[in-house]
Amino acid sequence: MRARQGERVQNGRAISVFGLGYVGSVTAACCASLGFRVTGVDVHPGKVAKLASGQAPIAEPGLDTLLKEQHALGRVHASSDSAAAVQATELSIVCVGTPSLPSGALDLSHVEAVTREIAAAIQAKSGNHVLVFRSTMLPGSTRKLCQEFLGDLVNSGRLKVYFFPEFLRQGSALADFLDPSLSALGAASAGEQPDSLLEGLIGPDTAIAAYEEAELLKYACNAFHATKVAFANEIGRIGKSISIDSARVMDLLCSDTRLNVSPYYLRPGTPFGGSCLPKDVSALCVFARTHDTSAPLLDSLMSTNERHLQSLLELVERTGSRRILLLGLAFKAGTDDLRGSAMLELAAALLLKNFQVLIFDPLVSSQQLIGANERFARLRLPNLASMLTQDLVAAIADSEVIVASKKCVAPETLRPLLTNHHHVIDVNGWTELAALTPNYEGLCW
Ligand SMILES: NC(=O)c1ccc[n+]([C@@H]2O[C@H](COP(=O)([O-])OP(=O)(O)OC[C@H]3O[C@@H](n4cnc5c(N)ncnc54)[C@H](O)[C@@H]3O)[C@@H](O)[C@H]2O)c1
Repeated sequence: MRARQGERVQNGRAISVFGLGYVGSVTAACCASLGFRVTGVDVHPGKVAKLASGQAPIAEPGLDTLLKEQHALGRVHASSDSAAAVQATELSIVCVGTPSLPSGALDLSHVEAVTREIAAAIQAKSGNHVLVFRSTMLPGSTRKLCQEFLGDLVNSGRLKVYFFPEFLRQGSALADFLDPSLSALGAASAGEQPDSLLEGLIGPDTAIAAYEEAELLKYACNAFHATKVAFANEIGRIGKSISIDSARVMDLLCSDTRLNVSPYYLRPGTPFGGSCLPKDVSALCVFARTHDTSAPLLDSLMSTNERHLQSLLELVERTGSRRILLLGLAFKAGTDDLRGSAMLELAAALLLKNFQVLIFDPLVSSQQLIGANERFARLRLPNLASMLTQDLVAAIADSEVIVASKKCVAPETLRPLLTNHHHVIDVNGWTELAALTPNYEGLCW
C-alpha cells in the first residue's frame, strides 16, 4: 500500500479485514493508522478477542503498540460475524491463509470459504462493495473466484474485485506495509481505472495490471528471492570447498549494479549463449563436482536453456509451415560471433527436421568467419554458406515463417515485404513487429 507513514488519509472510511494472521493483523493496524475504521474478522475466537481488546494476535515488532494506540482512538474493532462486518463496511480485504496441500499444490479452500461468506453478505445488504484479495493466489484464481462465487454481483456492477499482492516481510512488516518495495494492483483488465474507495490503500506509483499479471508477479518475486538465496548458497558451498570467503565474492558480485544486481539479463527472450556463458557455467558445474560440492541450481542452467530453445522450435513447428527465414544469427546484436548462438542451434535443429532454412544477418558472412568462430560454425552447421542470404526481398518472398532474433532490418523495410500469410515469431521483444502482421507471436509474451 502506497500511502506512506505521515501521509495519513484520515478518511474515516470503514473497511473489514478477513484473516487476522501475520498479514491481516498488520493490515488492520496499518489501515487504522492511515485513518480507516477497521473491523477485523477471523474464524479463530482467540485472535478476534485479542484484536477486540487492542492486542496483537501475532508477534511482530511494533504491532502491539500500534494496535493499542489505534484501538484507543476507536479505529480498531473485531468480530467473528463476517456478515455484520461486510454490512458495516464498504471495502473488504481478504488476508486468509493459502497453505500448501500435501501434494505441494495451493489450498484455496480458506479463500473460497471467505469469498462465499462475503458474497452472501453483500447480497443481503444494500449498496456497492469493493473486495480486495491480498492472499497469495496462483494466476487465474481471482477470475475463477469471480466466476464461481461473485458473478452476479460483479455483472450487476454492485461489486468491484481486485487482487493486490502483499510484499511485506515478517519482522519489518509495519514499515514494509506503509512503504512497500513494490505496489501493483490486479484488476479485471489492465486498463481499468481503480475504484475511488481504494484511495489511501494504493498510491500514484501503484502499477495497474490484469489479475493474472499481478498474481504471477507475486510468485515471480518469491521465486526470484528463492533463486537468489539458493544461488548465493551454491556459490558459498563452492567457495568453502576451496577455502575462500564466498561472502566477499558475493559482496563484490553485488557491487556491480550495471550487469549483476540490475534489470540486465532479466528480460524473457532468447536462450543465453555466446562464447562465455555456456562454457563458464559448464566449467563451474564440473569444478563443483570435482570438489565434491553439490550445486543443483547451477547444474540445471544448461538444461533449462536447452528447454527454452526447444520451446522456440515447437513454436515454429506449430505454425505448420516448412519454409523458415531467421532474421539474425549471431548470439546477440552487434557481433558476428556464432559461438553458443541459439539461432544457429535452431537452424541446425530445423534442418534435421527437413525444414527449408534461410538466414539473413548483415554482420555474418561465411567468408569472413575466422578462428574459433569459424570452426564452431563449420562443426554445428556445415552448410551455413548455402543458407545465408543477402537478398532480403527474395528471402521473405520464399519464406512462410520469419523468426526474428535481432533488429537487423528496419520495420519500414519489412512492412511492404510481409503478407498476411507470413508468421512472425519474435524471440527478443521486438514488439514493433506485432503491428506489421496479424500472425505475430512472441516467444514469451
Ligand atoms: N506471512 C507473510 O509474510 C506473507 C507475506 C505476503 C503474503 N502472504 C500471504 O498472505 C496470506 C496470509 O498469510 P498469513 O501469514 O497472514 O497467514 P496466517 O495463517 O498467519 O493467517 C491466516 C488467518 O486467516 C484466518 N482464516 C482462515 N479462514 C478464515 C475465514 N473463512 N474467515 C476469516 N478468517 C479466516 C485464520 O484463522 C488465520 O488467522 C497467505 O496467502 C500468504 O501466502 C504472507
